[in-house]
Amino acid sequence: MSRFPATRLRRLRQSPAVRSLVRETSLEARQLVLPMFVREGLSEPSPIASMPGVVQHSLDSLRAAAVDAAEAGIGGVMLFGIPEVRDAEGSGADDPDGILNVATSAVAAEVGDALVVQTDLCLDEFTDHGHCGVLTASGAVDNDATLERYRSMALAQARSGSRLLGLSGMMDGQVAAIREVLDAEGFDDALLLAYSAKYASAFYGPFREAVDSQLKGDRRTYQMDPGNRREGVREALFDVDEGADIVMVKPAMSFLDVLREVRDTVDVPVWAYQVSGEYAMIEAASANGWIDRRAAILESLMSIRRAGADAVLTYWAGEAARWLRSL
Ligand code: PBG
Repeated sequence: MSRFPATRLRRLRQSPAVRSLVRETSLEARQLVLPMFVREGLSEPSPIASMPGVVQHSLDSLRAAAVDAAEAGIGGVMLFGIPEVRDAEGSGADDPDGILNVATSAVAAEVGDALVVQTDLCLDEFTDHGHCGVLTASGAVDNDATLERYRSMALAQARSGSRLLGLSGMMDGQVAAIREVLDAEGFDDALLLAYSAKYASAFYGPFREAVDSQLKGDRRTYQMDPGNRREGVREALFDVDEGADIVMVKPAMSFLDVLREVRDTVDVPVWAYQVSGEYAMIEAASANGWIDRRAAILESLMSIRRAGADAVLTYWAGEAARWLRSL
């Protein structure tokens, strides 16, 4: 056994060149995906107070920002739509003229295949009650009726030019239901990203402002309990079995153990979502001068990659990509 003084672990840390040469984990622009918000009826982008630096886009500013993201070299953009009018079924979600579908066509036309155009597939932005699905008479979220809405939404998104559908609703059987309808309609190329281990998290707080969420109460009957790790792995295995191309763990930093375990268990790409609350915490501490903003952002992204994420959804995708280019 080699030990001190023959072995000195500090030799591996002696200079930037050596550290760079032996670093185990890489962080590259192509591994980053930028979530973006587009709001119906806006003529100018509108700031989101709890997410400094992030905006609700108008259609025009979204197009320009997508071009900018492509120039930064990131892997993709994930689009979220905020409709002007909501109803119990979330009709705006599968309306070809609904904001998300219109925005998807516009972005797809603008960036082509320079990056992967992706869409959030969930009803919560479109329902007047704010839940991710439709409700029964007694107000519970109706799993199987929601699957019918998701199938219709999936077709609308694929027809609008979305290349990758982000299944974030946490309904049982959603991957199989959507794969089936897409294949039947000739969209066998559309990728499915399953938000497999999506936890009912307090760290989604700023996102609720970002999408003007109508939710009262919580999502604990469909999103996962934060105490459960084994169940997160089980969710991922189910989704792979149903045909998911990629699985995800969300949020990222408070669930890095789940991320590692899922990465070690499945053989498909595994992504993580660095959510709005993670973003807000680092931005707020930085604004107070309490941490070094750029170093904290890069360390957070590196940690998520080290824990096993092949790619990361992060609101810093464009900015981080430009830093990584100049490193
Ligand atoms: C659901 C969805 C949510 C987020 C992404 N997709 C909100 C929720 O589940 O309550 C949160 C993302 C974030 O906090 O950054 N459509």
